[in-house]
Amino acid sequence: MTRPFRQIDPPQRLLMGPGPVNAHPRVLRAMSADLLGQYDPEFTNYMTEVMGLYRPIFGTENEWTFLIDGTSRAGIEAALISLAAPGDTVLVVNFGRFGLLLKEIFDRIGAKVETVDAPWGEIVPLEQIAAAIERYEPKVVASVHGDTSTTMAQPLDGLGELCRQAGAYSYADVTATISGMEIAADRWGIDVVTGGLQKCLGGPSGSAPITISDRAAEHIFSRRHTELGIQRDDLVQGGGQRIGSNYFDLAMIMDYWSEKRLNHHTEATTMLYGARECACVALEEGLEARYERHAKAGAAMTAGLRAMGLTIFTKDQNRMTNVTGVYIPDAVDGEQVRTRMREDFEIEIGTAFGPLQGKIWRIGAMGYNAMKHKVLLTLGALEAVLRSEGMTVPAGDAVEAALEVYRG
Ligand SMILES: Cc1ncc(COP(=O)(O)O)c(C=O)c1O
Repeated sequence: MTRPFRQIDPPQRLLMGPGPVNAHPRVLRAMSADLLGQYDPEFTNYMTEVMGLYRPIFGTENEWTFLIDGTSRAGIEAALISLAAPGDTVLVVNFGRFGLLLKEIFDRIGAKVETVDAPWGEIVPLEQIAAAIERYEPKVVASVHGDTSTTMAQPLDGLGELCRQAGAYSYADVTATISGMEIAADRWGIDVVTGGLQKCLGGPSGSAPITISDRAAEHIFSRRHTELGIQRDDLVQGGGQRIGSNYFDLAMIMDYWSEKRLNHHTEATTMLYGARECACVALEEGLEARYERHAKAGAAMTAGLRAMGLTIFTKDQNRMTNVTGVYIPDAVDGEQVRTRMREDFEIEIGTAFGPLQGKIWRIGAMGYNAMKHKVLLTLGALEAVLRSEGMTVPAGDAVEAALEVYRG
């Protein structure tokens, strides 16, 4: 029988799926700090600090760099609904579940959605995106960077420039790669980029960092329709179409994060503490070192899985470094293996969606979990489970192959 009033005491799982992952202890500690009022100078100072901390993480100098309260899709939704209005033509670069999510959100906005597609496990070549931009003349072009559903990382260099030349705004979802693979909002020239904490940033889900170019900010402010109860004479209302959501109205959220501190929502204090600490931990480690740590863990995981005789999903080129897809061998029941990993070893590995459901597992090594011993534990446990499920697996080779990557 459940005891609803007992204190929460979750098992100590090692989360080696496609996210969420275990949060860094520093982040959890920061999130137990005392609350402050949203206009307390100490708190508004934290907000300003957060803006500065996330600029390097996004690879940008954009003034407008802040947090959207909500999980990663809150950031996505705020970006898309503030850029696109009903009837606008938009283009989605679609190569997995999260490309389809962008399309779905645009559909709900009432935009006319075109897509340029690749099968799950591939990326969309830049020339095809260029041809689609020429053909559809979209107002917004949106792409995912790393799509965790397929483990593919879409190269984004050059995309922003293509969009600018065509007069389009560009958007990228970097939820699954932020601080694990290089994010270069300025070099990519992407106008709006959003992320999340629960993967390579090593925090809980619930806050979505965002960065916005000046050019996109101007467009968003041209749609400013401040809610009646907080209007002020010094706020110029925009002539553009009103943004179709109050909660995700970036013009109002930016006025809140600006020196005006115009009240919109009540900033999620504890999530802000967590997001701030995630950024501090990442910058203290150094972004290059962090990318290298993720790449090493991914390479070790891949080598270990191959040494077990398993087949990695799709070509190595353009695979994300932080999540590895691996075919479920015919000899075993994929869900039974996941259950035994969880029950016998307290390790979570991921299942898959859509056309890949039941075909691959997705194994992540991200943030606080992109560490040698966690990769080795996962490989050792998987080998033991596969053997006990009746599969013939060479003893010890997986861990040795992963160690070899770390030695090299
Ligand atoms: C690439 C990508 N985008 C968006 C999301 C949605 O994030 P959330 O569940 O935090 O809203 C995820 C979550 O797995 C993701 O991997």
